[in-house]
Amino acid sequence: MSVATANPRVRSGPRIRNAAGRAGEYRHIRVRRLSPVIGAEIEGVDLSAPLDPEVVEEIREALADNLAVFFRDQPMTAAQHKAFGELFGELHLHPAAPHVPGFPEVMIIAADADSKRANGEGWHTDVSCDAEPPMGSILQILECPPEGGDTIFANMYAAYEALSDRMKAHLDGLTAVHDGEHVYRGLYANLGVADKPSYPRASHPVVRTHPWTGRKSLYVNQAFTTRIEGLPQEESDALLRYLYQHLQHPLFQCRFKWTPDAVAFWDNRCAQHHAIWDYWPHARSGRRVTIKGERPV
Ligand SMILES: [Fe+2]
Repeated sequence: MSVATANPRVRSGPRIRNAAGRAGEYRHIRVRRLSPVIGAEIEGVDLSAPLDPEVVEEIREALADNLAVFFRDQPMTAAQHKAFGELFGELHLHPAAPHVPGFPEVMIIAADADSKRANGEGWHTDVSCDAEPPMGSILQILECPPEGGDTIFANMYAAYEALSDRMKAHLDGLTAVHDGEHVYRGLYANLGVADKPSYPRASHPVVRTHPWTGRKSLYVNQAFTTRIEGLPQEESDALLRYLYQHLQHPLFQCRFKWTPDAVAFWDNRCAQHHAIWDYWPHARSGRRVTIKGERPV
């Protein structure tokens, strides 16, 4: 691999591509980027109110450009949260998680002193074990711990583009197994949710093309992806280990610090996230709606 500079992720070939930097081009919202590669805070919108289609379109554009967008101080009921999610597509029903009573689409996120595990620890995209994994997730944190509980997001276009051309050629056409079994079994026991007999499993391309942007992104994640198909197990393990190490480089990331009633909306097709459980024994809780996606190609 050719290394153009001292920075090992910046090569002479395709570079880490910055977010499009459209701040100033929006008419209805203000968009303030959190890092050169991923994440932006959006101001000037009230998510609990009915939104003008032009505002929805600008939020969608900001999401396409920044992969994860954040809103502060957005108190919403479960019904308002659901209504906001539905502006972006049909909502997904989680295969395992508990939901707000009367709102099967509104998933409960909660960790406290009694939790043995917490939601979203480790790098992942949501429910990638589904045959048609969710396009996006909209999480609101209601109760924040005194410190900690941040979420890190990583740009999988950038991770893919920073690979060598030889590695890209090697990954081209490969598929991998994404399994929900080891992720979900027992995960919600602390919330009184009984396990299902089985959880989804699916095969997806290792590199997928985003339906909105046409850009390629790395689509294996440490939580769900168990093996690359068609390779000997040891070779698959070694390759996945390398890809996981590569995609976790800080150069691809931003880190969001939650405040009560903040909302994060991320695109699972081109971003991974990691919820940091550094606040035990304190509690952190919230609600999430998840928007249906398409079969990755
Ligand atoms: Fe997640």
